[in-house]
Amino acid sequence: MSHLIAPSILAADFANLQRDVEMINNSEADWFHIDVMDGMFVPNISFGIPVIKAIKKHAKKPMDVHLMIVDPDRYIKDFKEAGADIITVHYEVCNHLHRTIQAIKAEGMQAGVVLNPHTPIRVLEDIIIDLDLVLLMSVNPGFGGQSFIENTYKKVIQLKDLIEKSGSKALIEIDGGVNDKNAPKLVAAGADVLVAGSFVFKSENPTETIAELKGF
Ligand code: DX5
Ligand code: ZN
Repeated sequence: MSHLIAPSILAADFANLQRDVEMINNSEADWFHIDVMDGMFVPNISFGIPVIKAIKKHAKKPMDVHLMIVDPDRYIKDFKEAGADIITVHYEVCNHLHRTIQAIKAEGMQAGVVLNPHTPIRVLEDIIIDLDLVLLMSVNPGFGGQSFIENTYKKVIQLKDLIEKSGSKALIEIDGGVNDKNAPKLVAAGADVLVAGSFVFKSENPTETIAELKGF
């Protein structure tokens, strides 16, 4: 499988959201990456369910919803109704991670776990077989436009090894500071999905930038 590209809506122009959604529809991008922040787990507030519903009306590709919120179990059904196809929850906020993952799957969505930069891969040993994807944060979550943390390459290799040894089918997704320099190295290390916010939306031609990230 060639790697997938998931542009992050967080870096879109919120006053021209439909235009930016159509740009992604008409590009080589594979998924919409949608960042929900609650001002509690992370020090920033982004947007919530009404905005996701508005995006869903126009989006023609799967919606990958990254929940940076405490107690995500409370909202799983709401995000399903809003149009999520994939939900990822942070390891750092889930006391009953296995239950949360099963609840996401029970709603007919794909389920993934996100690890912060400081959280080691080994915490996934007893859950990896249940996961459709693992999202590795390559910045501290909360803001777009931060610099990529180089230790991520090592984590991709460790995660790939865990996935292969366990027989899991989980995809490896990377989020934060992705650009044309680190993207080929991430894919070479074993990444399957690359999220890109600022690098796509702050570029002169986002459609071409997506093609560039997709086409190596
Ligand atoms: C950060 C978010 C990212 C963010 C990535 O907390 O999870 O998805 O939008 O943005 P860039 O690509 O600008 O680092
Ligand atoms: Zn994200």
